[in-house]
Amino acid sequence: MSFRIAINGYGRIGQSVLRAIYEGGWQSQFKVVALNELSDIATVAYLTRYDTTHGRFPLPITQDGDHLLIANDRIQVLNESDPARLPWGELEIDLVLECSGAFSNRAMAMQHIQSGAKRLLFSQPAEADVDATIVYGYNHEQLKPAHKIVSAASCTTNCIIPVLDLLDRAFGIENGVTTTIHSAMNDQPVIDSYHRTDLRLTRSALQSIIPVDTGLDRGIDRLLPHLAGRFQCLHVRVPTINVSLMDMSINLGRDTSVAEVNELLRNASEGALQGLLGYTEEPHASVDFNRDARSGVVDGTQTRVSGGRLLKLMCWFDNEWAYANRMLDVAGYWLQTR
Ligand SMILES: NC(=O)c1ccc[n+]([C@@H]2O[C@H](COP(=O)([O-])OP(=O)(O)OC[C@H]3O[C@@H](n4cnc5c(N)ncnc54)[C@H](OP(=O)(O)O)[C@@H]3O)[C@@H](O)[C@H]2O)c1
Repeated sequence: MSFRIAINGYGRIGQSVLRAIYEGGWQSQFKVVALNELSDIATVAYLTRYDTTHGRFPLPITQDGDHLLIANDRIQVLNESDPARLPWGELEIDLVLECSGAFSNRAMAMQHIQSGAKRLLFSQPAEADVDATIVYGYNHEQLKPAHKIVSAASCTTNCIIPVLDLLDRAFGIENGVTTTIHSAMNDQPVIDSYHRTDLRLTRSALQSIIPVDTGLDRGIDRLLPHLAGRFQCLHVRVPTINVSLMDMSINLGRDTSVAEVNELLRNASEGALQGLLGYTEEPHASVDFNRDARSGVVDGTQTRVSGGRLLKLMCWFDNEWAYANRMLDVAGYWLQTR
């Protein structure tokens, strides 16, 4: 059965999702009926055809009036900033993939439902009043057909939650601190410029390592409520265009060793979490993980244990490609629920 999809906001994540549908063989399950993006269709076509991070699109891209043509598929391109005016009912949309980042509240999401879409999946954690926050591979079995507004959490949450869950089950977690070392994003200027809310986001993304706010601690609290209040999280942006690194320092409930931790994570990567969690002992740099679809890859060469219980762990993730693939995993599972 094929589901009718609309992508709202066709930036880095929206584009990655469309590409992942075509490169990952999801076309039989998802028919992309419409894209809603504030830019014009010629630019939409151009940015689909060529991508600095992910390369050329694997199929011919042309345009016909307000439709983007991908091989024989026709996708309507809309330019509507008000979700209340989107023609989702007329287009019989089963699911809106909300990738604009323009809003995070349930009330705005419900406007897409009132416009006729059956369900909406956020590409971000959104407010806590969504029907469910899902990290695929950790809690996707909680999805229900009655859910209307769901969040696929964040790229950082998708990376860290399966790892924290494994560590907590094996050793117990007392508390921890994390630093996400994240590639630049489109909310940063190339050269210093104004930003409405964050002075640090006025600074050139090309020239500096820039600390920015993160909601990862709230994400951990929401997904692992028994650890609520035990994590503090930092986030720095660095001048690369894709792939990020999660740096975790965790106080465990019992003594362990580097070998024991690595064995736990390697076994999970070859077992229950295969395809979602990776494990490596190769000497890597971040670019090696560009277009890696796994939510996170533990770098076993960087694992350290201090004083028996203080664990330091590093985990690579492609913040765009892995996350786009998880959105499709969540969408696919959710739409099949009966
Ligand atoms: N990039 C990542 O690594 C990543 C990973 C996981 C989750 N996310 C989350 O995904 C969301 C999008 O991030 P992104 O990196 O893809 O941002 P982005 O590249 O800036 O893309 C967002 C797109 O949505 C468009 N847009 C803004 N308001 C809109 C509206 N009302 N209707 C339709 N389109 C609208 C924007 O157009 P204009 O540029 O014209 O405003 C832009 O093209 C954010 O919430 C982000 O936190 C991002």
